[in-house]
Amino acid sequence: MTLRELVARTARRFARALLHFGHGTDNPRDEAAYLVLRALKLPFEAGLDRPVSALEMARVDSLVEKRIRERVPVAYLLREAWLDRHAFYVDRRVIIPRSHIAELLREGLRPWLRQPVSRVLDLCTGSGCLAILAARAFARARVDASDLSVAALAVAQRNVAQYRLQQRVALIRSDLYASLGKKRYDLILANPPYVTTAAMRKLSAEYRYEPGIALAGGCNGLEFISRILAGAPDHLAHGGLLVCEVGDNRAAVEAHHGRMALVWPKDEVFIFLASRTAAVSRTPPTRHRGK
Ligand SMILES: C[S@@+](CC[C@H](N)C(=O)[O-])C[C@H]1O[C@@H](n2cnc3c(N)ncnc32)[C@H](O)[C@@H]1O
Repeated sequence: MTLRELVARTARRFARALLHFGHGTDNPRDEAAYLVLRALKLPFEAGLDRPVSALEMARVDSLVEKRIRERVPVAYLLREAWLDRHAFYVDRRVIIPRSHIAELLREGLRPWLRQPVSRVLDLCTGSGCLAILAARAFARARVDASDLSVAALAVAQRNVAQYRLQQRVALIRSDLYASLGKKRYDLILANPPYVTTAAMRKLSAEYRYEPGIALAGGCNGLEFISRILAGAPDHLAHGGLLVCEVGDNRAAVEAHHGRMALVWPKDEVFIFLASRTAAVSRTPPTRHRGK
């Protein structure tokens, strides 16, 4: 059997099993190619006409079984996830990287970020994926990457070391901004927990492998988003930018924080940008107070 045939066979098995996709792929064929190639430590560009050995077949088949029977996401099976063509070590202590913020970082957050970036904060860093992509996007920047979960920070530490960024990325245990003192940043990134309580109850099996602390965002999904917005004016430098992912909660964000001049880049529904002045403007002008 060739790699091509093994990928096709795996894709048929995935399709029949009615798996949920959403951790890096969105269809059975891509999920099959991801599992087969990376289980065999091959690059995604590998030619598919080469034959597969019996040993390789056995390795792939045992992972396919686990994917189908136990619904374990491929990234946890392989202990490797990909975001914007970068590989990250993952296990069940962190969610599987998939943040849309990665696409904005690839473009250096142009045209929204106009000033040079020397200090970055990645709130809720998890595996450290966004902190690492930010450090690579802004080669002179120092990045503080914080998370409440000690277990997640251990994973982030491994990834920071893998990318040899220990000199520029500092890992900090913190409940959002609580342990950051009075530090200010040119750029604050946040992909916080934002799944509503109702949606948490309906999560498909694959998402239940991820840590609840990384997903659950309270009854309306805004528990962390609102706190991040409230603290931003005290931690953004002059001209700095907050970039926050909110999932499906755009309408809720606009309903609760409608007074702020939030920008939804590229008609992107999942992410808002807020300048320091926009975040400060949560306080209504004096003349409206008391009405
Ligand atoms: C959606 S995950 C994001 C992980 C990573 N930034 C990414 O994009 O893959 C949210 C992270 O927030 C962390 N977290 C939950 N509550 C927190 C809090 N109160 N303060 C800081 N981090 C928190 C979780 O441990 C988890 O790693």
